[in-house]
Amino acid sequence: PQVCWLSPEQTAGKQKPYMYTQGQAVLNRSFFPCFDTPSVKFTYSATVKVPEGFTAVMSATSWEKQKDNTFVFKMSQPIPSYLIALVVGDIVSADVGPRSRVWAEPCLIEAAKKEYDGVIEEFLVVGEKLFGPYVWGRYDILFMPPSFPFGGMENPCLTFVTPCLLAGDRSLVDVIIHEISHSWFGNLVTNATWGEFWLNEGFTMYAQRRISTEVYGLPYTCLEAATGRALLRQHMDATGEEHPLNKLRVVIEPGLCLFLGVNPDDTYNETPYEKGYCFVSYLAHLVGNQSKFDAFLQAYVNRFKFQSITADDTLSFFLEYFPELKEKGVDSIPGFEFERWLNTPGWPPYLPDLSPGQQLMRPAEELAELWAADGLNMEAIEAVDITGWRTYQLVYFLDQVLQKSPLPEGNVKRLSKMYPKISKAQNAELRLRWCQIVLKNNLEAEYSKVKDFLSSQGKQKYTLPLYRAMWGGSEASRALAMETFSATAPQLHINVQNYVKKILGLEGAE
Ligand code: BES
Ligand code: ZN
Repeated sequence: PQVCWLSPEQTAGKQKPYMYTQGQAVLNRSFFPCFDTPSVKFTYSATVKVPEGFTAVMSATSWEKQKDNTFVFKMSQPIPSYLIALVVGDIVSADVGPRSRVWAEPCLIEAAKKEYDGVIEEFLVVGEKLFGPYVWGRYDILFMPPSFPFGGMENPCLTFVTPCLLAGDRSLVDVIIHEISHSWFGNLVTNATWGEFWLNEGFTMYAQRRISTEVYGLPYTCLEAATGRALLRQHMDATGEEHPLNKLRVVIEPGLCLFLGVNPDDTYNETPYEKGYCFVSYLAHLVGNQSKFDAFLQAYVNRFKFQSITADDTLSFFLEYFPELKEKGVDSIPGFEFERWLNTPGWPPYLPDLSPGQQLMRPAEELAELWAADGLNMEAIEAVDITGWRTYQLVYFLDQVLQKSPLPEGNVKRLSKMYPKISKAQNAELRLRWCQIVLKNNLEAEYSKVKDFLSSQGKQKYTLPLYRAMWGGSEASRALAMETFSATAPQLHINVQNYVKKILGLEGAE
């Protein structure tokens, strides 16, 4: 399942086949023999021979093309197995910074260069200022074929990203900042087991939002974090707060029977990300001073770089680093015990203050209120000019509308007509929300947009929520789910295919 072989039709250029690998969490064992656990780190080298007209790239420090279409790669820093990755395809590159280039199929390279030309270096510089040296040499970005199941994958030296990021306006750059943040949290300091995946993702969300705050300011970053919180709310509503996966420390090993174990891939949800973010924010709140907490993060990276650790290591180091907090017993404040954060499912006991984002969020909340009303107050609605809104403001607005859905009869149809910028958007984050609204409101006239969106890309975080919504809806939306799946299944990553099958009650629920 680790190696994905794409036919020419499944690429952007539609001329040549393509292959890529996705290691995280436990897929690389089907690619090469290895200790496929994040607790073991090693260097690697690889020799890859490809057919004429193809290029190979890997997550490696250095690479060299030799004769006979043979590429030689070397990763000179120890990394865990899940970070080894290979792509072979008709790909070319263009520089976008002093240590960064973008890779893409020839027909996408112009758009790729335009999206990120001159912006990557600033994120790296801010990251280094906050968290210490960037040790990986280059930071390149590879735009993947549309079926790539993730927004981004932090393969060292060479982040893989979905082509959905090519929005034309840099509006989805938070994904890049996220993957850059893994250069310290995840790739340098690594969770020793997948049961503590939040150590990778929660710290990375925190680091991402620190960089974002420095570059784009606090209001915008709080707005982005609020959309993250909405995702956590949706996830917990869908699974139930008490679901065993809704704790930070997940039990992967069953102890008694191998077959009862949880597949680490199945723990990929919003909890490690957004609840993890809340826990790290809570630690920062205990410290009470941003620059002191930043200094702690830098010391933490320095202390554990190139190692794999558990949450106990992290929290002991935190208490060692701040002896006055240890003395105060901050690890056992009733209701906020560290042990409770780790082992109790449910909504985070502490939420960071996102009110600096209010200036951007309030207009979106008010507009959503107006659209949810019984008799629409068109005068008030028309008085709100959304033409200047940022993508995440629109996303936030749509999440509010979704939360209030189904809206009174006719409202969504009106909304669709009023804002073609939303209902005909090309931006994937907007398309996802619009499709969710269409489904929740049974707007059959726009069902084709759901199918179009699901045919255009295969990101897991877009695909599964839409199938869940279709399957939980009317007869017509269930039919739409079946029709869409039979048309698009072969394009989907095998894991995503299996998750959809599970949702639709088809076989494959192994
Ligand atoms: N490492 C993850 C992707 C991943 C997680 C792959 C688990 C396989 C198993 C990556 O860094 C990630 O979190 N991507 C997010 C980006 C978002 C949070 C900005 C994504 O793909 O949505
Ligand atoms: Zn991540």
